[in-house]
Amino acid sequence: MALRRIFGEDDEILRKRAREVTKFDDKLACLLDDMKETMINADGIGLAAPQVGLLRRAAIIDADGVYLEMINPKIIKAEGEQIGVEGCLSVNPSKNCKVLRPQEVLLEAYDRHGKKYRKELKDLAARACCHELDHLEGILFYDRKHDEE
Ligand code: CO
Repeated sequence: MALRRIFGEDDEILRKRAREVTKFDDKLACLLDDMKETMINADGIGLAAPQVGLLRRAAIIDADGVYLEMINPKIIKAEGEQIGVEGCLSVNPSKNCKVLRPQEVLLEAYDRHGKKYRKELKDLAARACCHELDHLEGILFYDRKHDEE
């Protein structure tokens, strides 16, 4: 395993749509292992492949004791609302802001072996999941800044 460089918000890769993963091979496993090490090293709760320079639909979260590797992920159901402060390993913490997210989501994704799974996530894990899936669309959390009246 190795640490990878985390790209900053000024890098255009963070604004592009990531491509589907088609090969569930050793290279993908290596990427996921490196992403996990990089996320832990940076004290984060999620990381998406574009943040380490790969425009692929792969992301991980580690929130509320839920560690997940999400390949070609989709949210197939979302319920409720939560408002909370978000930050991102690619963004200066001075830009942390409140974001509205679903309280619960039903995630469908593939694991590193290409096996499809579904998982219900709530609270912080749901928030982290939505944040990482946004990265795969080139969306950053502050695009969704929640303005209170
Ligand atoms: Co982020």
